[in-house]
Amino acid sequence: MIAPIEQTLAGLRTQTAIWRKAGETIGVVPTMGALHQGHLSLARAARETCDRVIVTIFVNPKQFNNPDDLKNYPRTEQEDAKKLESIGVDLIYNPDGPQMYPDGFATNVSVNGLTDMLCGAHRPGHFDGVATVVSKLFLQTSADKAFFGEKDYQQLQIVRRMAADLDIPIEVVGCPTIREEDGLAMSSRNLLISDRARVKAPALAEVMNELRTALLAGGRMSDLLEDAKAKIVNAGFNEVEYLDLRDGTDLGLLDQPAEGSRLFAAAWLAGVRLIDNIAV
Ligand code: PAF
Repeated sequence: MIAPIEQTLAGLRTQTAIWRKAGETIGVVPTMGALHQGHLSLARAARETCDRVIVTIFVNPKQFNNPDDLKNYPRTEQEDAKKLESIGVDLIYNPDGPQMYPDGFATNVSVNGLTDMLCGAHRPGHFDGVATVVSKLFLQTSADKAFFGEKDYQQLQIVRRMAADLDIPIEVVGCPTIREEDGLAMSSRNLLISDRARVKAPALAEVMNELRTALLAGGRMSDLLEDAKAKIVNAGFNEVEYLDLRDGTDLGLLDQPAEGSRLFAAAWLAGVRLIDNIAV
């Protein structure tokens, strides 16, 4: 059965109050729609551990720093609802812009430090938009657990920090990145890659994996970085925005692998910005 789609906050709260009264736990999977297997894996993780599952679909204007990016972001609500059918999601929350940001809305949730680097350095205001909408979704759904993909690892760390700092009683659960057969990390943005460019896309993960091997063999980022970036560009990418080895918690820069460290990359391929990260 297709899950009921709720568009109003009042309707959402009526439903969650009933579940709460019955002593049921609630899991939330925040999304911007254009659902793929990565999102479905989050919904499944929520289904396995929570009595009730809410998937939110809201293309959040506050996290887009480029108006064209917002305009072109894929919107596939009907297909999304169908994709969730087999998982047994209890509710899809799909508010519109004014529902989420009514006239006079003036609050900004901003997490310091973690947002200055990686994607934050290249997309000014993006993570304020994410932290603002996610804190609202946490409060609106009153969920016990929230499920996020490690694909957006920086976002995951920022959301964890935000929930802890604001004392929102929710467990933030990180779930592994789901990949296409050729290694490309699944992302709603992959729908925007042309067929011609798509064949080049796996090079990003391939070079990251090679770099990982070299680092684990004792190599240093300072020696390996330029060569790895050149390989990504030679494979057909237009630009490497960043390729960094960082701590997995505070995201501080590293030259050599350490406990919990990860490689992070963002690169442009034919007008589409792809990001990826892997544990090292
Ligand atoms: O990862 C996303 O799709 C978005 O950043 C999120 C967490 C749904 C907030 O809009």
